[in-house]
Amino acid sequence: MTKPRIAIIVGSNRKDSINRKLAEALARLATQFDTEFVQIGDLPMFNLDILSPLPAEVARFKNSVDQADGVIFVTPEHNRSIPALLKNAIDWGGMPAGQSSWADKPVFITGTSPGAIGSALAQQHLRHVLGAFLSALVLGGEAYITFKPDLVNAQGEIGDESTRKFLSELLDRFARLVDYTADKVERAAA
Ligand code: FNR
Repeated sequence: MTKPRIAIIVGSNRKDSINRKLAEALARLATQFDTEFVQIGDLPMFNLDILSPLPAEVARFKNSVDQADGVIFVTPEHNRSIPALLKNAIDWGGMPAGQSSWADKPVFITGTSPGAIGSALAQQHLRHVLGAFLSALVLGGEAYITFKPDLVNAQGEIGDESTRKFLSELLDRFARLVDYTADKVERAAA
């Protein structure tokens, strides 16, 4: 049986990004899925004037999201909100009108920061933008991860056992949401 294809989008393009580290460890943990990292660092700044034809980078980005059965976002928090890099990608994904890449897409949101609330406000804002406005199917539950040096171990896995278990359970719930959604879409098409 083929596994669901899950796109992973990281809200940081920093070389040593702690969110990329977490995302890579999450990809190892997510054995239920075939995962693919989708780059957003090459997207132009959103501008309605360059919507048609879509810039090649935007077409590549939207195609990757469109082909995926679900999307995992792993985001830092910038000034208590969504990093501009990620918001830019979300704005592109929502366009052109009627061809949004987010509508009815199962989404799992997490992220990390060294602060005590572990990117909570960025994640909340992201949940609002994707779920309330862009009609993505955002998994319920919260996954605010405070970054500590041992969060990801030398093997690139989640080092802390309770965090690993916590994320593993959320991934299982996300797999059920992805399965449920695929099932409904197939039935609707039949
Ligand atoms: C931050 N950082 C930060 N952290 C936080 O917990 N809440 C915040 O609001 C902010 N704001 C913020 C703004 C800007 C412009 C920067 C550059 C940084 C710190 C941030 O969590 C830290 O730099 C992380 O390492 C960012 O994640 P990546 O890029 O390493 O994945």
